[in-house]
Amino acid sequence: MFFLADKQIITLITGAERGLGLQYAKNLGKAGHVIIIGAYDMTAGQAALKELQDDGITVLLSHCDITDQATVDETMATIKAKYGYLNILLNNAGISSPAFEKPSETSDEHIEKCFATNFYGTNRVIRAAVPLLKAADWAKVINMTSDLSSLTRAMDPKYGYSKINDLPYQASKTAVNALTMGYAKEFAGTNITFNSVNPGMTATDLVNKKQFEANGAQSVEAGAKAATELALAKNNDVNGQFLEAAGKIAW
Ligand SMILES: NC(=O)c1ccc[n+]([C@@H]2O[C@H](COP(=O)([O-])OP(=O)(O)OC[C@H]3O[C@@H](n4cnc5c(N)ncnc54)[C@H](OP(=O)(O)O)[C@@H]3O)[C@@H](O)[C@H]2O)c1
Repeated sequence: MFFLADKQIITLITGAERGLGLQYAKNLGKAGHVIIIGAYDMTAGQAALKELQDDGITVLLSHCDITDQATVDETMATIKAKYGYLNILLNNAGISSPAFEKPSETSDEHIEKCFATNFYGTNRVIRAAVPLLKAADWAKVINMTSDLSSLTRAMDPKYGYSKINDLPYQASKTAVNALTMGYAKEFAGTNITFNSVNPGMTATDLVNKKQFEANGAQSVEAGAKAATELALAKNNDVNGQFLEAAGKIAW
């Protein structure tokens, strides 16, 4: 457990009611962070709340649909009223493409759906959190993207998943990397850092779990490693990077 300036570490994780988000909540909660579950599905959120409380973690549940400004604002207002600051914003909430289609056959609707959650939703949460992040002694924003969002890897035939050509998901996550870059430059030299993290192929509800497991997808515990390590790092000098468990990734 680490406390800087003897203050509690306040951590908001979007989409923490299941999958990687719940694992981040367990890892950081067990390390002493106060966890705010930003939940889309409040039934699953209640179950996650109980599971974390049973583990002895200090945890709050807040309805936070990242496509809905009002619920995002309410979540920030709750954190402001209770703590007055936010140290870690883990932008974990995300969706996969509604269908796997060739780019030339993909509808605007499918592209817009992915961008509405993955890009606009993530940006909405960051923008709303900025005053709370500024109010903290130190703060880290960790944007969950994917190695599928690396343009370099996508065009590298030696990269195992370079044949995947899933325009809505990949483009929306590449756009989240652009958010990381933009905010990292704006806030360089301040108390707030911004980084993107790739968990790697992980068997969760986001994907066809059984098919992914058959293809060797890792466990949520392994998938949560990179962002957990970044969140728990005692220093806050990594800014504007794209990271995975093995190190840096090319954008
Ligand atoms: N699993 C992988 O292989 C993999 C690889 C690379 C990157 N990632 C990224 O890692 C993150 C977590 O994925 P996961 O695999 O843990 O998927 P998951 O199990 O489907 O979890 C995603 C979470 O985000 C929530 N969510 C969806 N729309 C939301 C919204 N509008 N507002 C708030 N929350 C919302 C989901 O809620 P509902 O389930 O109720 O919709 C769910 O709790 C995602 O950003 C994903 O793109 C995953």
